[in-house]
Amino acid sequence: MCGIVAYVGERTAYPILIKGLQRLEYRGYDSAGIALLNGSTHVYKCKGKVRDLEELSKDQDISGSVGMGHTRWATHGAPNDLNAHPHRSMNGKFFVVHNGIIENYAHLRKELNNRGYRFESETDTEVLANLIENIYLEQAVSAELAVRLALTRVVGAYGLVISCEDEPGQLIAARKGSPLVIGVGENEYFLASDATPIVEYTDQVLYLKDEEVAVIRRDQLDLKNLHNDSKTPDIQKINLSIDHIDKGDYAHFMLKEIHEQAVTIRDTFRGRIAMDESKVFLGGVLDVMPQLIKAKRIIIVACGTSWHAGLVGEYLLEQYARIPVEVEYASEFRYRDPILDRDDLVIAISQSGETADTLAAVRKVRETGATILGICNVAGSSLSRETDAGVYTHAGIEIGVASTKAFTSQITVLTMLALLLGSKRQVLSSDTYRELIHELIQVPDKIEEILRSEKAIAEIAAVYQGATNALYMGRGLLFPVALEGALKLKEISYIHAEGYPAAEMKHGPIALIDEQMPVVALAANDQSYEKMVSNIQEVKARKGKVVAVVSKGDKAIRKMADHVIEIPDCHEAVSPLLAVIPLQILSYHIAVMRGCDVDQPRNLAKSVTVE
Ligand code: M6R
Repeated sequence: MCGIVAYVGERTAYPILIKGLQRLEYRGYDSAGIALLNGSTHVYKCKGKVRDLEELSKDQDISGSVGMGHTRWATHGAPNDLNAHPHRSMNGKFFVVHNGIIENYAHLRKELNNRGYRFESETDTEVLANLIENIYLEQAVSAELAVRLALTRVVGAYGLVISCEDEPGQLIAARKGSPLVIGVGENEYFLASDATPIVEYTDQVLYLKDEEVAVIRRDQLDLKNLHNDSKTPDIQKINLSIDHIDKGDYAHFMLKEIHEQAVTIRDTFRGRIAMDESKVFLGGVLDVMPQLIKAKRIIIVACGTSWHAGLVGEYLLEQYARIPVEVEYASEFRYRDPILDRDDLVIAISQSGETADTLAAVRKVRETGATILGICNVAGSSLSRETDAGVYTHAGIEIGVASTKAFTSQITVLTMLALLLGSKRQVLSSDTYRELIHELIQVPDKIEEILRSEKAIAEIAAVYQGATNALYMGRGLLFPVALEGALKLKEISYIHAEGYPAAEMKHGPIALIDEQMPVVALAANDQSYEKMVSNIQEVKARKGKVVAVVSKGDKAIRKMADHVIEIPDCHEAVSPLLAVIPLQILSYHIAVMRGCDVDQPRNLAKSVTVE
């Protein structure tokens, strides 16, 4: 995914664009560029980060009160200066920034080639710029109509901002599949892929819908769909403050977000648990409650960390709601011919609500008549609009590419859902229902306790910062946490790490163990504790180094492990919410000690909005 920002108004556009791009850098950071419209259009773009772009443009003409900017996560073409956006059409009439993917670009490129168009870059976006220009010049229509006609020929996803040299003071925005927000100010408009670049200027926003096109001048916004039907802009107040998108005193967003989890989990269950702790209330599922209660099977679809949360959900929903659950990678599910019917419930989990594979899986399910429930963090995202019902996680904006607080909020929702369904289906005793609600409410305080041991965990990180491999093992509800711990380590520190169900170790992975191999063992005091003790012994017998996450006061494992990290005692149902915190902290400190760019790990982007 990429980040787009644009401005039309009376202020100088450049600082707004640069600051906006810095806020959006989490969406992609291979290359960055801006176009400033001031009589003619000046484009500055380069491989690298926004700071490289600032360096490049420092002694240049940066005047102009209309402009657009882009930060890229490469899809078509390597990250280099030429492939960086904005892209200019061959005759210089149009400039385009694009987030998304034009799937039929090769066909369009060939067609334009035959009409004499030549291309500077390898991108699908330049093809679109030339397609618009070709229609504009050949059919002698307005820029806006040329854009709409071009977009009817495009297969794929786009969030776009486009300028036309012949129509100065104007930007055209369009969206399909990739988000675009318009901030409405006094005689000015801001455009961005999310609201973070906008929030300090205005709290009035308009979320463009699919196939909508906005023509924007500083004092005017016209909204229509691709077929030229006028639309009334639905301007809303956003509930996002500058504090939410500021690192504050933290060195990285990831660290800030790790530390926010006591608060974000409270935000997730706030208003959803009765004051007397007697019941769970999820307003977002009320409309589909009959289908949820009678569901014969649940299929969870998600990617990455959200998929790990789904695995935790599998254990919880089977255990407490007694519904069989399957957890699917959305990227695989979408290409199968799944056997689903109206009695199935599909739960799609996504922090961003924009992950292409998860959305494609949801669209596939739509054809079958099964009920679709979304668990999502971003209000107004595609997922939230395409599901029958849903529960927002309310974790607040997550900027660190490595997901942390979204994971624990997703698990909090899944826990509440399992309890709610268990109670409604009358398969959960009221005592257990109340006990687990009480346990969930205790979690934020217990997380604060774990966070106080950050220094000790950082000392363990110092010991293992030079590792080249690591294994994570857990059983039951802590197996998905082992997977998540391994993912956190590999994505931000580039240490190869794998998670395993502890009992699987002896079916192969144990061969990897020698005195160089750190093994992170999740051994909270749950029903599989004794078995974990044996698994740790097996690792120690082969000279592996064990970092054990144990319940407070543990004695047996302390004697065997090289390092222990204690978490407060808890019911095993909520143990994933606690056990993952030290793993996040451990990965974070190892990555920092290795000099890695924690918030912007190489090759990654926050949401994967392309296949
Ligand atoms: O926005 P989503 O939850 O759908 O994103 C899914 C994955 O791309 C995401 O969890 C990814 O694995 C993170 N980098 C993990 O930290």
